[in-house]
Amino acid sequence: MKKMSAPVSRRFEGFFTIAFIASGLCACAFAADPAPTYENSPIRLSSNENAFGYTPKAKEAMIEALDAGSYYNRNNVSELVALCAKKEGVSKDYILTTAGSGPLLMMTALAYAEPGVNVVTTEMGYTQLIRKFEQRGGDVKYASLSEDMGYDFKALGDAIDENTKIVYICNPNNPTGVLADSNALKQFVLSVPPHILVFVDEAYLELTESSFAMATCAPLTKIRKNLMVTRTFSKGYGLAGMRIGYGVAHPDVIELISDFYMGPPSYLAAIAACEALKDEAHLSKNVENYQTVRKHVCDTFDELGIEYAKPDGAFVYFHSGIDQQLLRDTMKENGILISGSRVSGVPAQKYEKWARVSIGTMSQMDEFLSLMGGMMAKK
Ligand SMILES: Cc1ncc(COP(=O)(O)O)c(C=O)c1O
Repeated sequence: MKKMSAPVSRRFEGFFTIAFIASGLCACAFAADPAPTYENSPIRLSSNENAFGYTPKAKEAMIEALDAGSYYNRNNVSELVALCAKKEGVSKDYILTTAGSGPLLMMTALAYAEPGVNVVTTEMGYTQLIRKFEQRGGDVKYASLSEDMGYDFKALGDAIDENTKIVYICNPNNPTGVLADSNALKQFVLSVPPHILVFVDEAYLELTESSFAMATCAPLTKIRKNLMVTRTFSKGYGLAGMRIGYGVAHPDVIELISDFYMGPPSYLAAIAACEALKDEAHLSKNVENYQTVRKHVCDTFDELGIEYAKPDGAFVYFHSGIDQQLLRDTMKENGILISGSRVSGVPAQKYEKWARVSIGTMSQMDEFLSLMGGMMAKK
């Protein structure tokens, strides 16, 4: 692993001034947040995109299939469904593919929400399902986190009442990055009354330090009817732009949310996802990259005296002691996009000096860490 050659504080001397001058140029170069397909685009460490890239086999297969674009090509999605079912050890009617996993979160909210009912979730979690549930007139009940920003299953259980329709758990959590203890999570899932849907969002689970097979709740869908587990090809597999993901659930749950289905993913995305699933070596390499770079970020944060929640996803949630907006603005002026405190279920002030940085390549993270060091030294 790449290590710093000089003590952190010395290495940052002078850098901040250069970065400050450069910031004027960068600021002119991009007004909004352009995609990396544009020239001079900033370093994107804000949306948990995969900087290591997807399998070249997916690219080859998509190029080969381009000429078939005038046909619906439903067989490609069928092939993907079969591969997903095999991976999850379930039958094909347990799988629903969508354009990214986001649609599954929203379809579920649409299917279950109405005035007078609630969704229970952790504070400081991912809000795509939550927001949609609220938009449809439902309520949200937030359970507090544990001391280390992990899950408090007692608090989650206590928040459930007679109006609860869904319990939404993101594992590893976003923005905190913390992974649940797999036994505690599974016990909790099995303890929730069967008329309530437990929704486990495993968007980042491939990237965890722990065993994926041990940590996933998908096998429980075979014994627990009211459970939905979602996966995406956007993160570990690096196919965010292709828009493809899937849910694993009992066919009755799939049928219920399918009232809000907006159609299958594109055949090219399905082709790419099939290749991604087959290329296990590429996924392993990507996971290794994430783990190596994530450790490097944590080691450097330790040197800089920056506190962080234990990260197991594609990002690190950290406490710099610098106002999150100032930190984001300064980073942006210097060509780096990071995310802010992303509070939910708590007053914004509680995390106003926290921010989230996505894991990029080692050199991208070193640019971020250099700036971070400069800012910490000036605090
Ligand atoms: C926890 C979590 N779930 C789901 C999603 C949705 O991602 P996608 O629609 O690309 O699968 C995201 C996106 O960042 C996420 O962070």
